[in-house]
Amino acid sequence: MFGHTGVLSLALPFLVGRVVGQTGIQLDVSSTDSIKSAAKSLAGGIVSFYNETLQKDLTLGLFPDPYYWWEAGIVFNALIGYSYLTGDSQYDSLISEALQHQIGDHDAFMPPNQTKTLGNDDQSSWGLAAMTAAEVGFPKPANLNWIDLVVNVWNTQAERIDYATCGGGLKWQIFTFNNGYNYKNSMSNGNFFLLSARLAKFTGNSTYTQYANQIYKWSNDIGLVSDFHVFDGADDKKNCSQVNHIQWTAAHGVYTEGAALMFNMTGAQNWTDTVNGFVNASSVFQATKDNPVIIETACENNGKCDVDQRAFKGIFARTMARAALAAPFASGTISKILSASAQGAVSVCTSGGKPSCSLSWADADSKWEQASASDGNLGEVYDALEVVQGLLYPSAKSLQTANGGGSSSSSSATQSGGASRSSGASSPQNTGAAGTIAVSLISVLVVAIAAMCSV
Ligand SMILES: *[C@@H]1O[C@H](CO)[C@@H](O)[C@H](O)[C@H]1NC(C)=O
Ligand SMILES: *[C@@H]1O[C@H](CO)[C@@H](O)[C@H](O)[C@H]1NC(C)=O
Ligand SMILES: *[C@@H]1O[C@H](CO)[C@@H](O)[C@H](O)[C@H]1NC(C)=O
Ligand SMILES: *[C@@H]1O[C@H](CO)[C@@H](O)[C@H](O)[C@H]1NC(C)=O
Ligand SMILES: *[C@@H]1O[C@H](CO)[C@@H](O)[C@H](O)[C@H]1NC(C)=O
Ligand SMILES: *[C@@H]1O[C@H](CO)[C@@H](O)[C@H](O)[C@H]1NC(C)=O
Ligand SMILES: *[C@@H]1O[C@H](CO)[C@@H](O)[C@H](O)[C@H]1NC(C)=O
Repeated sequence: MFGHTGVLSLALPFLVGRVVGQTGIQLDVSSTDSIKSAAKSLAGGIVSFYNETLQKDLTLGLFPDPYYWWEAGIVFNALIGYSYLTGDSQYDSLISEALQHQIGDHDAFMPPNQTKTLGNDDQSSWGLAAMTAAEVGFPKPANLNWIDLVVNVWNTQAERIDYATCGGGLKWQIFTFNNGYNYKNSMSNGNFFLLSARLAKFTGNSTYTQYANQIYKWSNDIGLVSDFHVFDGADDKKNCSQVNHIQWTAAHGVYTEGAALMFNMTGAQNWTDTVNGFVNASSVFQATKDNPVIIETACENNGKCDVDQRAFKGIFARTMARAALAAPFASGTISKILSASAQGAVSVCTSGGKPSCSLSWADADSKWEQASASDGNLGEVYDALEVVQGLLYPSAKSLQTANGGGSSSSSSATQSGGASRSSGASSPQNTGAAGTIAVSLISVLVVAIAAMCSV
């Protein structure tokens, strides 16, 4: 996924101007209703595009070319977040079915159709979506636990840590025939760090904590992370002696959230310092010294962001919003960044049936085209959705853990162990969300399930 730079030859939408005469999306960052309403418009635009592609016979859980498989993973992650943060559960069964259809081999999000683009970071983008589903108690069929899928993803990746070169770390690619097999990158290792930290928080299993510590330390030893700046990757044929120093918002975000969770679980001063360091270093993505609106520094102002890179800021927004939750001491600074960015994001979106968004949150006159998800800007609409709905985390119900956690009452513990799918059916069910609900849910979901069951 990340870094298919140069492979794609499609024209970049770095030309057309603003669509005039349409109303922009309104957003009052101090009003929960206003935030939800803006998020609803953006989520609707994404789901419309998904519906259109399904009508053209596309497979459940995918978006058409030029969107790689990983991007569908982050988009469904966002839609799970949307349901949880806004209480709008109308898409739950659609989302649940999409995830189930892409489970693939080892029940670990490795669908055989995707082997040509299936790197470790691609797989973990889906694993993290399932993790979100587990944390919010997302609807699922009776024979499936979201957390089992996450554990399977984690187990497959833990086994792939390669000690033959660079002292450890994950390679970018899983399969030897894919370009990038000899590259150890921050997105794969950062996602694994985050997945380990989220699993540790969810399950309380110290194996995940150990791996989170290990991969974080390795990232620093090798220089993928240095002075809280996160760099793209290094060639393992050179034993990672030369690091590619390009910085991306997405990789920065996943390391930041991972560190925030490590702080959350340990309260340790060294993790406090780490979170502060990452938040401070994120200023490299600020539009200007005095303007905290986030830009994709490596490619935004020079017009070179490719399709993948145009979806990175949404990952940054999601992970920073969640970092603020786990590390409350950083929430003030993060909140300023996200509020300014959300206002910037909607200022370059138009509302209407299908919202159109542009990449540049900081420059309403940028040359990046404004377009709907259906018309080429899935990444931009996704970015806007994540940064807008991220503002709702402080007022959302607590995320759940295997022991219930959260603020809600009843709960039956989900799996926290180390195995494959707990039961029965070897193929995913496409019957949607009308199954059991493992843990306590926010009431709107319960109502939605009841409605579905009665159809
Ligand atoms: C997409 O399709 C689903 C299921 O058919 C439906 O519930 C939903 O309203 C549709 N959404 C949009 C935005 O078209
Ligand atoms: C794999 O591709 C086939 C043929 O297009 C399709 O029917 C199937 O649903 C795909 N499987 C997944 C998991 O995407
Ligand atoms: C490769 O890098 C690792 C980690 O920095 C180091 O421990 C190891 O000695 C290096 N191996 C060679 C052959 O240089
Ligand atoms: C903080 O210290 C603990 C205990 O020594 C260690 O396991 C962990 O990796 C350290 N974290 C950082 C960010 O240095
Ligand atoms: C914050 O970041 C700036 C610029 O990267 C750096 O000069 C400064 O030392 C950092 N401060 C802390 C406390 O890390
Ligand atoms: C850990 O995160 C939760 C929110 O998930 C928060 O309520 C709690 O205060 C955090 N713990 C610490 C030590 O900051
Ligand atoms: C902890 O997680 C590891 C890795 O998934 C697993 O092998 C182990 O069985 C788990 N331990 C417990 C007590 O669940």
